[in-house]
Amino acid sequence: MDATLAEILASAWALLVRAAADPRHPCRVVQLATAGRDGAPHLRSVVLRDVDPAARVLRLHTDRRSAKVTEIAAEPRVALLAWDPRARLQLRVGGRAEVLTHGPAWQAAWEATPVGSRGDYAQLDPPGTPATAPLDAPRHPEPERNFAVILLTVDRLDWLRLAPGAHRRAGFVWSGDLPRATWLVP
Ligand SMILES: Cc1cc2nc3c(=O)[nH]c(=O)nc-3n(C[C@H](O)[C@H](O)[C@H](O)COP(=O)(O)O)c2cc1C
Repeated sequence: MDATLAEILASAWALLVRAAADPRHPCRVVQLATAGRDGAPHLRSVVLRDVDPAARVLRLHTDRRSAKVTEIAAEPRVALLAWDPRARLQLRVGGRAEVLTHGPAWQAAWEATPVGSRGDYAQLDPPGTPATAPLDAPRHPEPERNFAVILLTVDRLDWLRLAPGAHRRAGFVWSGDLPRATWLVP
């Protein structure tokens, strides 16, 4: 018997929560799309750091000097994709992104970042800067100055589960607290 739309939505959030908590989960790494300044889509992999289903917020971390931060400042509407090959499940999320570079939530995220991972924010030059050679060890004395938190507030979710002869798709759109939910032709 098919799950109800409410059950599907709950299972989608549960999957994202598990993915953020488990480094080996296939959806721990998701793909984040932003609109470039020229209108072209830009896509990259990012680690899903935390999920708050009640607030509908996903947390990501990045270098504040990266292109995605500039793009979000100009166009906060972003999209995110997760694919779980074990469940043969695709989640497509749309929403608005906000970049934090200070404040309690930013501070807590930085303090929770393992020392071994802080080097990811310690390059002297911004990510994507042309370089004449592979980079040396990180040297920025204050990597936290480069650290940014991205909070994505979800306002739409497209759920697609593949099964032989029985693909299922559902859509959820929020304009207030409760989503408009519907089955969709897969
Ligand atoms: C498996 C994987 C995980 C990654 N996780 C992150 C991440 O959590 N945050 C991040 O900013 N970049 C991450 N990256 C690097 C991005 O994909 C991207 O190369 C970088 O952020 C620069 O993107 P931008 O120039 O579009 O801003 C990851 C790459 C891979 C392959």
